[in-house]
Amino acid sequence: MSRLQLEQVRKSFKNGDTEEEVLKGVDVTLEEGEVTALIGASGSGKSTLLTIAAGLQRLSEGRVLFNNQNLAEWKAEQVRKIRAQHFGFVFQSSHLVPFLTVEEQLSIMMDIADRRGIKQEKQKQIKKILDEVGMSHRRTAYPSSLSGGEKQRVAVARAIIHEPSILFADEPTASLDSNRSRETMALIQQVTKTQNMATLIVTHDEQMLNYTDRIVKMSDGKIVS
Ligand SMILES: Nc1ncnc2c1ncn2[C@@H]1O[C@H](COP(=O)(O)OP(=O)(O)OP(=O)(O)O)[C@@H](O)[C@H]1O
Ligand SMILES: [Mg+2]
Repeated sequence: MSRLQLEQVRKSFKNGDTEEEVLKGVDVTLEEGEVTALIGASGSGKSTLLTIAAGLQRLSEGRVLFNNQNLAEWKAEQVRKIRAQHFGFVFQSSHLVPFLTVEEQLSIMMDIADRRGIKQEKQKQIKKILDEVGMSHRRTAYPSSLSGGEKQRVAVARAIIHEPSILFADEPTASLDSNRSRETMALIQQVTKTQNMATLIVTHDEQMLNYTDRIVKMSDGKIVS
């Protein structure tokens, strides 16, 4: 089943007096349980497409369909709610909060997603997800004592703690060595299946494509294959 559909998405930026069209009518569908890789040269529009799909940025024309509703027509506050409850994010840098422990990073995300619930349920969910990413043994650790790969594992845990239906990742392995990169990609592929999410990953690294189900290639603001 499809989780998100982008239809004829266009995005232009004003550049002085001229308008530059960065996305030129893009169609992409994200399916549940599948990792879709978005590849293409630097500047081809990958990050712009990801942020529009995730409701972090407005499009100029086209539609973004989530549960058959067009997010492009929604008010910013409604989009913010959908994002907090149904979308998860992983970026190039793990962006962990330096003064929170691993479990506190996850706990705070559950609050943001409005998954407060009873304390025991919350603890159970945190344990389940930390087990899944193999970080339970470090649940009281601060980010400064984690390796780059471990930080990215925690970032993945934080992105899925509220059980989102879509996971967005922009170059999640760009700051890791090749072993850690492979581990992180394998983990993202694994959680995509276990949580039945639709995952969109922007990557530069061809080796990482082994861990994806579908590859979408962009060139100059268009899908070329
Ligand atoms: N807010 C903005 N204002 C003006 N131009 C922008 C803005 N955001 C992106 N662009 C331009 O849009 C084009 C596509 O940028 P984008 O970041 O989507 O590329 P990318 O494919 O992610 O590249 P990279 O692989 O280097 O991350 C670039 O030419 C960039 O300069
Ligand atoms: Mg980019």
